[in-house]
Amino acid sequence: MKIIVTIKDLSNQLNTIRESGKSVGFVPTMGALHSGHLALIKRCVAENDVCVVSIFVNPTQFNDQNDLLNYPRSLQADCELLKKSGCRLVFAPEAEEIYPEPDTRQFDFGQLDQVMEGRFRPGHFNGVAQVVSKLFDIVQPDRAYFGEKDFQQLAIIREMVKQLNDTVEIIPCPIVREPDGLAMSSRNARLSAAERAEAPVIYRTLSGSVALKRSLSVEALKQWVADRIDASPLLRVEYFEIVDGLTLQPIEEWADSGCPVGCIAVFCGAIRLIDNMKYE
Ligand code: PAJ
Repeated sequence: MKIIVTIKDLSNQLNTIRESGKSVGFVPTMGALHSGHLALIKRCVAENDVCVVSIFVNPTQFNDQNDLLNYPRSLQADCELLKKSGCRLVFAPEAEEIYPEPDTRQFDFGQLDQVMEGRFRPGHFNGVAQVVSKLFDIVQPDRAYFGEKDFQQLAIIREMVKQLNDTVEIIPCPIVREPDGLAMSSRNARLSAAERAEAPVIYRTLSGSVALKRSLSVEALKQWVADRIDASPLLRVEYFEIVDGLTLQPIEEWADSGCPVGCIAVFCGAIRLIDNMKYE
C-alpha cells in the first residue's frame, strides 16, 4: 500500500494502473476510519482491480469552524487499518494541494440542498461537491462508494455527477451500525460516556416507528419520533423529515412517495449526529 500526498504522484501511479487495463474504485473519506468506512472499502476492493482511498478533512464543507478544528484526525491509525483492508493507494493531501487557490465554484442543486442538512448547514453541500468533483478529476475512478448514512450527500453526489457528465458509477452502501444500533460515525468518539449510552435512542426510536407507518399519518409519526427523542435530557432533535428517497422533498401523505425515508439530525450534548430510516 502506498501513501501519496501529491496529485502528481497519484496521477503517475494511476496512469500506470490504467495502462494495464485495470479498473479503479474510489472511496473518499475524511479519515478517523471505522467499520462504516471499512465496509465501503471492502466492497471497493472486491469490485475493482485497484482500490484508492482518500483521507482529507475538507475545510470548505465545514460551516462551523469549531467542528473543523475538533474533527478527529488519526492518519497513522487509519493507515494501519487500510493496510489490512486491501486498499492499494491512500491519497492524503494537505489542504494547499487540493486548494492552491480558493475554490469559488457555486453548484446549483435545485431543491436537493434546500432541505435538511442543506438548510441547517448552509454551504455544506457546495463544499462537498467542490472536493468530490476535484477528487473525481484526480482519480477518475470507474466506481465510487458512498454510505447511505449520509443519505442527502449521496443524492447530491449523484446530481453532481449528472451535471458534470461524469461517467463514474456511484455505488450506495448500507448504514453500518454499532451492536446497539447507533450509526457508526467519526463523531461518536467525541461523545461522553453518558451521551454514548443515550445515543442509541435515536436508532431505537426510528426503527420502532417503522411499524407505525400503517397506523399514523406522516405528520403524527414525525411528532411521535421527535417527542420520544426529545424526552431524553441529553438529546435534542434539530430536524426530522420524511422525504421522498429520490427528490428529498418532504412528503405529506405516505402515498406521496414510493420510497419514503426519515432523515434526522440530533444533538447529543454538543455533538451533532445524523441517521435515517427507510419506510418502505
Ligand atoms: P466521511 O464522513 O469520512 O465518510 C466517508 C464515507 O463513509 C461517506 O460516503 C459516508 O457516508 C460513509 N460512512 C460514514 N459512516 C458510515 C456508516 N456508519 N455506514 C455506512 N457508511 C458510512 O462523507 C464524508 O466523509 C465527506 O463528506 C466526503 C464525501 C469524504 C467529502 O469530503
